[in-house]
Amino acid sequence: MSKRVISPGGIIDGVVELPGDKSISHRYAIIAALAEGRSEIRNFASSADCQSTLECLRRLGVEIEKSDRTVRITGTGLNGWKEPRKPLDAENSGSTMRMMAGALAGQPFTSTLTGDESLRRRPMRRVIEPLRQMGAEIRSKDDRAPLEIRGGALHAIDYTPPTPSAQVKSAVLLAGLFADGPTTVRESICTRDHTEVALREFGATIDGTKSAIRIHPRPKLKAQQLTVPGDLSGAVFLIAAAMVLPESSLMLHNVGLNPTRARVLDFLVSIGAAVNIASVQMLHGELVGDVAIRHAPLKGGEISGAQVAEMIDELPMLAALGPFTENGIEIHDAKELRVKESDRIATMAEGLRAMGARVEEFADGMRVEGRTAGKLRGAKVDPQGDHRIAMALSVAALGADGDTTIRDAECAAVSFPEFFVTLDKLRGAAKA
Ligand code: S3P
Repeated sequence: MSKRVISPGGIIDGVVELPGDKSISHRYAIIAALAEGRSEIRNFASSADCQSTLECLRRLGVEIEKSDRTVRITGTGLNGWKEPRKPLDAENSGSTMRMMAGALAGQPFTSTLTGDESLRRRPMRRVIEPLRQMGAEIRSKDDRAPLEIRGGALHAIDYTPPTPSAQVKSAVLLAGLFADGPTTVRESICTRDHTEVALREFGATIDGTKSAIRIHPRPKLKAQQLTVPGDLSGAVFLIAAAMVLPESSLMLHNVGLNPTRARVLDFLVSIGAAVNIASVQMLHGELVGDVAIRHAPLKGGEISGAQVAEMIDELPMLAALGPFTENGIEIHDAKELRVKESDRIATMAEGLRAMGARVEEFADGMRVEGRTAGKLRGAKVDPQGDHRIAMALSVAALGADGDTTIRDAECAAVSFPEFFVTLDKLRGAAKA
């Protein structure tokens, strides 16, 4: 198992073009595979999670070519997928499992979705329940993967997920493609809307409102030429590194700024970060722009309510910024963090405490004390195979006294394989 030693200090200085957004890449791949004709997707995510989605689609008989960052997918039309001979392995990817479950619910054959140890522990009732209501037969033990799905003709439903989840919304909307009438998903807190945006790009009819999204069945989805915006959730680790290291300045080109994802930038600005956005444009229904960041002292703040769903993937990094703020970071209403790739509240609390941070853990969040609680010190930390925690602790390590050893640091590749190389380059550029 790879470990990585992070030495503190340096300055972040440079310009970065980020690999394609993970959430958007999953969706483009799945929808392209259901469309008719050959789609070309440029700047496709390099993340291991998105390769898992491509692999599952290949097993369903979808032709996929990949050269560098461009993926070409020959769609089969809505019902052209073939019954797979072996289980489909989503590996570490919750998005692959939950969204593929939606698309497979409409296929007239039996398929099994499985995953790695972490994914097999995660709750799947949230997709099993609505897909069963639509008429899919799903077998599982304790509502965990593996999921055996026997799909077919589905009924339209009007569904309100008990927990806000873009993955669940997406699963139901994808299943809605195969239903006998319009399917509606209602949200009290709006989650990322990439599925709705992408389905429209491919020719589906989606109407309703922002909080009651309605999809019409059996559209003729048409192949598209698309470019995936840079991954803002990955960028946040580099932005945070610039917050930790004084005198840093960073320019990010072509980053996804979809309002359902960019709340983290508002939050950072609200606690003192210097963020400038320029060259904003619309790309296939997604907002994209350049983001410039300069180091600035952070006040700290509280995150709760709707902000949690809006910044769900950024919470580990924001928590790890706590010791670099004046008043600390406090998070509430985030019990979902306990069922991510790891229990992100416990794993972050343990890692930050090992580095000397003062952390209080709540059932639904945590409080990380600000800089008055003392400077972090280098330590040995274990992100429990969780990519976002490996990166969050690595960034915190940049501002610690002494070296930090991150166990199994290469798990960062699940979402951002280039993370450590990029970080080294940005710090190296400043030294040269
Ligand atoms: C994702 C949705 C979020 C997020 C995950 C990616 C997506 O999960 O945490 O990393 O691409 O739809 P939930 O929908 O379960 O909140």
